[in-house]
Amino acid sequence: MRSKPYPRKTTSTSWEPVSKWYSQSVGKDGHYYHQFVILPKLLKLLNLNDNSSLVDLACGQGILARHIPAKVPYLGIDIAPSLIAEAKRLDKNPQHNYLVGDLAKPLKLEKQAFTHATMILALQNLAKPDSVFKQIAAILQPNGMFAMVINHPYFRIPRQSSWGVDENKKIQYRRVDLYLSEQKIPIQAHPSEGVQSSETWSFHYPLSTYIRWLNEAGFVIELLEEWCSDKKSEGKMAKMEDRSRAEFPLFMTLIARKK
Ligand SMILES: C[S@@+](CC[C@H](N)C(=O)[O-])C[C@H]1O[C@@H](n2cnc3c(N)ncnc32)[C@H](O)[C@@H]1O
Repeated sequence: MRSKPYPRKTTSTSWEPVSKWYSQSVGKDGHYYHQFVILPKLLKLLNLNDNSSLVDLACGQGILARHIPAKVPYLGIDIAPSLIAEAKRLDKNPQHNYLVGDLAKPLKLEKQAFTHATMILALQNLAKPDSVFKQIAAILQPNGMFAMVINHPYFRIPRQSSWGVDENKKIQYRRVDLYLSEQKIPIQAHPSEGVQSSETWSFHYPLSTYIRWLNEAGFVIELLEEWCSDKKSEGKMAKMEDRSRAEFPLFMTLIARKK
């Protein structure tokens, strides 16, 4: 993995430093993409019923918990204490529990306790997804489902992918400057604050690496979905932008089944 040429503010992947901002931007109902893309599609795939039990890894302030059927036992785990405190404040369901926990360390949870595991927009914030996959496999029942939603690893690589406009062809295209090499990328939470801004980390791996790690952890890949934004542009670039938005997915979702 590439090292950065200057010291960063934090080596922790926790979103504790940005918890106030993140919690506000997600709110009670979720941010735009939670509400209109991720949660409706994910809930359909999870297909939870009265026999299901769900562990939500890197749950943030518990957005998924507030959208699942009320009877499903739920455990949310996140490293950021303020986000877990907010999740508890917003969720009074007695079937729901929350834990401050670092997924980079061994989880002290009962083996094979859950039928479903989820990780929403968080895998790319974790330093060692391979060891996390192994931990998830251990706490899932045989044939249990792991659903992970990530920023699309082909088209949304921080600092290495961007939009461009081809004036001759009258199209907006996606430029990708690298793909196969692993990246560790600092992200400013508030770019307008420059170096004063809190930072989080994003880790990039190619899809083949995720699939290999899932396989090594004892999963088979059942389904891969690619989800686009449903937003519509206005103004003179609208046609171009709407076309490219419908061509380049924002999110990739992998459904993996424990062997
Ligand atoms: C983009 S947020 C997503 C939160 C939530 N799933 C959602 O969709 O709102 C990423 C989350 O990963 C959590 N996280 C980062 N590193 C972690 C670790 N090592 N163990 C547990 N959680 C971690 C952060 O604290 C943050 O809440």
